[in-house]
Amino acid sequence: MEKKWYKEMSVYQIWPRSFCDGNGDGIGDLKGILSKLDYIKELGVDAIWFSPLYPSPNADYGYDIANYRDISEDYGTLEEFKTVLDEAHKRGLKVIMDLVVNHTSTEHEWFKESMKGEDNPYHDYYIWRKGRKPGKEPNNWLSTFQGKAWEYCKDIDKYYLHVFAKEQPDLNMDNPKVRQEVKDIIKFWLDMGVDGFREDVITFISKKEGLPNGFPIPTACGIEHYMNGPHLKEYLREFKEIYDQYDCFTVGEAPMMTTKRALEFIKEGDDQLLNMMFHFEHMGCDNVITNWIVTPFKPGKLKKVYARWQKDLYGKAWNANYIENHDQPRIISRYGSEKYRQQSGKMLATMYICQSGTPFIYQGQEIGMTNPKIPTIDRYKDVSSFNTYALFRKLGIPDSITMKFCMYASRDNARTPMQWSAEKNAGFTTAEEPWFEINPNYTEINVEAEKNNPHSILNYYKKLLKFRKENDIVKYGDFEMLKTCKDIFAYVRTYEGQKMLVLCSFTDKEIAFRAPKDFDLNAAELVLWNYDNNPLVHNGFMTRPYETRVYLIK
Ligand code: GLC
Repeated sequence: MEKKWYKEMSVYQIWPRSFCDGNGDGIGDLKGILSKLDYIKELGVDAIWFSPLYPSPNADYGYDIANYRDISEDYGTLEEFKTVLDEAHKRGLKVIMDLVVNHTSTEHEWFKESMKGEDNPYHDYYIWRKGRKPGKEPNNWLSTFQGKAWEYCKDIDKYYLHVFAKEQPDLNMDNPKVRQEVKDIIKFWLDMGVDGFREDVITFISKKEGLPNGFPIPTACGIEHYMNGPHLKEYLREFKEIYDQYDCFTVGEAPMMTTKRALEFIKEGDDQLLNMMFHFEHMGCDNVITNWIVTPFKPGKLKKVYARWQKDLYGKAWNANYIENHDQPRIISRYGSEKYRQQSGKMLATMYICQSGTPFIYQGQEIGMTNPKIPTIDRYKDVSSFNTYALFRKLGIPDSITMKFCMYASRDNARTPMQWSAEKNAGFTTAEEPWFEINPNYTEINVEAEKNNPHSILNYYKKLLKFRKENDIVKYGDFEMLKTCKDIFAYVRTYEGQKMLVLCSFTDKEIAFRAPKDFDLNAAELVLWNYDNNPLVHNGFMTRPYETRVYLIK
């Protein structure tokens, strides 16, 4: 397998609003980020992905962009961004921007012009249609954020399509002028020196001709007509012409992606359209259809999904590995255990970072932040949480049950401010009030406390990332899942005569684990662990709650 810098790196994701407030207005910003670059570097990552920093009315906190070539006043200025970029580069950190081009904000100039009517040169930048008959939307599509996917504009008697919130009108990528705009935006940031892009819902940008009715399901009806649409590859190929002129990297967000389909985009070779993809399969092991229909966590399913992505891509394409981001609740509260926070936090880190692929780490994950469990909907901020709450109410689900789902599944679980210290407002801001409430557990869970504790999750992440960096087997080894009971995820990686065994327990129960005959634990070096004292019994051991161990044979 060819070695590449983007395969070697690990990436830290910043959701700017909640990372660090440098100017004391209660909102995270570039000044705050600048003050934390050394912290990020010390963690041992190689790149930062910034969730959108652009001007935005924040209907979807930055994913509704009003201007692609500037920085939001909330976060600072373009000059300040350039300073952050330079300072990151000086520290050997790459910088990756979020490219959100499936839609803009309704506040974008293009949309404001587009609304003026068919004669306006920007009208065809968006997807406008007449109603099927008066008062009836052009088709039956529903927004993935709930409600109809069409909004009526009285002045021009037409509807515009929005597969997300109504403040996020979909761009008409079939219009070559729109694609040219996208290419210009890509160039703008690459010329400034950024190193790549995370491409937001990039598999949604091509819609089926004629926009036919979708299969009538209560959420995201019509998705089969805009996910992996007919011209997707063509459009990505066009964008690639720009990327090929730079030494940069791309990771595309791809809901409902399968390995077979993914290979059509990320298989290495002349027609590789993206370097990697974020799939969602492993995020569906505690829910059905949407994160909000919560079911008990099934480790067996998680293992199968991982084994498939590891096997199917090996030697052909590269995985993008993550367990948290700004759309996903905190992983310890989902697949781990808050009671065994330290053990399960380390186990989950090991579980995915020791697989083949580029690991992404979301702010706060490295200190084991947990869901804040905010009990009433009025205290939330996220549009999709409000809309899902309203939908569940319409479906007759009692509020008490909906709030249980919300406390588990809302995206806001990952968006509370970063917990830097035990000081007021967790050291996130000097303002009286932060923009969003802070998890009260910040007095115990915070960066300062984690730094000073040799057994902390933070110090474990540092060790783990260093181990990955220094050992090619972690990056390039092949992957074989071991047959064990459902709560144990164990796999062996092999590379150039070396072997590594990774054991992860997803239970608080003790389970007898025995290594395969051809992996002699007694001859191996224990390189990572989350309990003191790690005796062996023959070629195995009894696992302790959420135990992880990594053994290496050189
Ligand atoms: C992606 C983003 C999410 C956003 C949506 C619409 O899924 O990660 O935060 O709401 O796209 O842009």
